[in-house]
Amino acid sequence: MTAQPDMTAQRVAPPRWALLHALAAGRDFESYLRRRAATGDPFAVGFPGFPPVLFTGTPEGARELFRAPIPLVTPPRPNPIEPMVGAASLILSSGERHRADRAMLAPALHGPRVRALGETIRDTTVEALETACGPGTSGPIDALVLSRTITRRVILTAVFGSADHRDHEYAGAVTAFLDAFTTPLLVAPVLRRGLAGFGPWDRFTTARARLDELLLTDIARRRAAGPGTGDLLDLLLSIRYDDGTALTDTDLCDQLRTLIVAGHETTATTLTWALYHLHREPGLLSRTTAELAGADPLDGTDLLDAVCQETLRLHPPVPIVLRTLTAPWRWRGLDLAAGQTIGLAVGVLHSRPATWPAPRLFHPDRFLDRPIPPFAFAPFGGGHRRCVGATLADYELRVVLATLLTTVRLRPTPALTFGRRPRSVPRNLASAPDRAIQFTPAQ
Ligand code: HEM
Repeated sequence: MTAQPDMTAQRVAPPRWALLHALAAGRDFESYLRRRAATGDPFAVGFPGFPPVLFTGTPEGARELFRAPIPLVTPPRPNPIEPMVGAASLILSSGERHRADRAMLAPALHGPRVRALGETIRDTTVEALETACGPGTSGPIDALVLSRTITRRVILTAVFGSADHRDHEYAGAVTAFLDAFTTPLLVAPVLRRGLAGFGPWDRFTTARARLDELLLTDIARRRAAGPGTGDLLDLLLSIRYDDGTALTDTDLCDQLRTLIVAGHETTATTLTWALYHLHREPGLLSRTTAELAGADPLDGTDLLDAVCQETLRLHPPVPIVLRTLTAPWRWRGLDLAAGQTIGLAVGVLHSRPATWPAPRLFHPDRFLDRPIPPFAFAPFGGGHRRCVGATLADYELRVVLATLLTTVRLRPTPALTFGRRPRSVPRNLASAPDRAIQFTPAQ
């Protein structure tokens, strides 16, 4: 029998003309990944400044990725989002440190602890709507701005036990911080250097320092006052590692920044897309609203659940999930070396016609009609690093939408109705629509 040639080196080679690929990806990341996926699975992607990545977009590839032995996979470094979340972030840590931090935080983001936030989520939504639609306001409602207001207040409540104390200061600081981490800074590390205090990187580091100043003040107050309400800050302060050490103030800032940013931007962009699709399809909107009429917004309905899932399928806010190998490993039939980064292209997985007929259509009923095959739907990633806030995010999406749809009737602006269909583009931590999604309150 003749030996098969080893195709591994050929398959993992990144495409040539990396800069052109980066530009195409920056313009429309989802379509770029789908085009690359058409070349085979796994497929290689490489941008200037980052090591090449081998992606899968199949349930089989996702299964292998998420079932990889824990010591074999770590988050890739350098990492595009490292300047935002910091080296001590749960998103970037590994080994004992990741295990201990996650074990402490995860129970507070599940079951009754999440349900306990239900009334805060509902009341925050009503308040934000009153401010956006109330007397004295003019102009359209920007769905992303409204959604960010709601989700920011919710995550601040989860982290600090209350959003009231300094919501106004955090609002400005968090928005400036998110807006300062522009797509060029995300994808081109070469731009991450100061320009006499006036460049994009200077604006970003100033915004980060302002946010950290607020966080350090809250950390110092809590240390002085003792434990609060068992909120996420209390839990982070109580962590002790095997060697007896605790998180330093710098580490705490990284963790808090991570929770605040990861905990509200992703949910906000999902809410924005859900509002967009519901208002594009009047029949679906009437059905969803009619079912909600008899339900408690804290309970939701099956159709509303399906709307949220379909939104996460069509617009996964975190479009890629990455792991770097710590030792050689065979994945998708290829013998890979230690140091190779592998990943899941979530949008590709979510648009396979074999699992999702007519994948480009927004069709929530597909989630009601039949069970979803394992590893075919992964908006929250998977395995030991699956999104620690997934339960909160799922619940929050439902309560915000249920409250919103039963409190106010919105009408899409003409620009939204007749304009070009928005695209998902990478923006700081979560992909977001590339144009404003705006509504006016119906009289
Ligand atoms: C719709 C909303 C959200 C989506 C789609 C989302 C998605 C994701 C994804 C894909 C990952 C990577 C998982 C992996 O590597 O396998 C992740 C990780 C993470 N998410 Fe979320 N997320 C959402 C909301 C939240 C919320 C509300 C929080 C905070 C309360 C949060 C905090 C985190 C953290 C800390 C990690 C790192 C987990 C780890 O590495 O152990 N996320 N998220």
